[in-house]
Amino acid sequence: MIDVRLVATLSLGISLVFSASAAELTNAKPVTFAKDIAPIFQEKCQDCHRKGTAAPMSLVTYEESRPWAKSIKQRVVTRNMPPWHIDPTVGVQQFKNDMSLSDDQIAKIVRWSDSGAPMGDPKDMPAAKAFPANDTWRLEKEFGAPDTVLKSDPYTMPAQSQDQWWRPVTNIDVKEPRWVRAVEMRPGTEAGRKITHHAIAHLVQHDPDAPQIGDQDSSNSRGGPDEAGQLMEWAVGKNYDIFRDGTGKLILPGSHVWWDIHYHAVGEQVRDHVELAVWFYPKGQEPKYRTYLTGFQGITGGRMDLQPNTLTESNGYTVLKQAARLENFQPHMHLRGKGMAIEAILPDGSIQPISHVGNFNFNWMTNYIYADDAAPVFPKGTIVHVTSWHDNTTANAANPDPRQWVGYGDRTVDEMAHAWVNVTYISDEDYKTWASTHKRETLGRRASN
Ligand code: HEC
Repeated sequence: MIDVRLVATLSLGISLVFSASAAELTNAKPVTFAKDIAPIFQEKCQDCHRKGTAAPMSLVTYEESRPWAKSIKQRVVTRNMPPWHIDPTVGVQQFKNDMSLSDDQIAKIVRWSDSGAPMGDPKDMPAAKAFPANDTWRLEKEFGAPDTVLKSDPYTMPAQSQDQWWRPVTNIDVKEPRWVRAVEMRPGTEAGRKITHHAIAHLVQHDPDAPQIGDQDSSNSRGGPDEAGQLMEWAVGKNYDIFRDGTGKLILPGSHVWWDIHYHAVGEQVRDHVELAVWFYPKGQEPKYRTYLTGFQGITGGRMDLQPNTLTESNGYTVLKQAARLENFQPHMHLRGKGMAIEAILPDGSIQPISHVGNFNFNWMTNYIYADDAAPVFPKGTIVHVTSWHDNTTANAANPDPRQWVGYGDRTVDEMAHAWVNVTYISDEDYKTWASTHKRETLGRRASN
């Protein structure tokens, strides 16, 4: 946490010696909701915290926000909210969808909460921010209406039930090969969001040209011989994929989506489906590279052995059979998940840390999308090493029962560990050019947990 008093003393000292304007940096002026906090909430919170969303409260008006001031302070200083849990000391640091608060914003929120959460002058309030209707696709602003929307057959989840896996099939109606530039996925209704643990849209098509992804794990291979990888995976914190310029997924005529939707009961009967919006590249505009959504395993041999009251580290290794660029990092674990790190072991034996989430929270399967310049590129033969940590002790607030042994499995109470990564395969030639022009903006510290 930032020591606000120290900052105040230092800047006061500087202002006396050097300039009057530095006095503005002191804590003399009160922090108010109207002037200081409302703009931060508009920028970083209201996308989720407003009426009609899944978040527990709205943070739009003063009256709505005031009762939460203490809880807000606690969540922002621990960097639990906004749900952006990437370790700022390991690996790639530039992201396309960074929603984190700056240190300055956190300091303001702390001072506001500590000084009794005042409203201030209502005249200072910024104009209310306009949000699109909840049934608008997030990507519509950028790409317009989707070219096609695929829907799974609906499913009725009873009020009480074991977890269920709903695996219907939907045909994709394309008459010729089409390149996908963006996909967005969501449960059909707000009620459906509560029962949908996650949903995967597997692309199934006869595609002899597709490269063999290294060590195929169960989540990659379950679609059978024509599995062409996932078109998209939805979980709270992951809503869409935009394929970088010059990259995309190829959909062939005769293809279909094979859904794999994991529902869990929430005490009321809910009927819902999942829908997937697809935006194509214009006909004739063919991206050079194909992107494959891949689950890099954080365990070996599909086996997990989490003893009661124990913290366990597991490791998974996948060889890249072609040069590739990794576009994002999305750790996937269940209730005992504590942390996950991904690093590259290059053919020359050197190790390059890529990303680390140290305080994994099962509520949040946040997808960290690397900025264009920062997405790391690796030569053929690189090993992608994923380390996962599971906390099966009482220290883990999400743990339903630390006395249980836990193994690998699909249910929420079983465990898993894989990193969802969009992998763009490139040629060795491309790798050489790319690597020579590419800034390696990564921090060298290796992850620990
Ligand atoms: C991506 C969506 C999202 C963003 C952005 C977000 N929140 Fe949240 N927030 C949630 C959801 C969903 C929950 C309930 C689940 C949980 O606690 O993780 C929550 C929970 C909270 C809680 C705990 C409420 C309780 O029940 O005790 C606080 C406090 C909070 N958020 C504050 C903030 C603040 C302040 C910001 C902005 C600086 C913010 N959140 C940004 C979605 C979001």
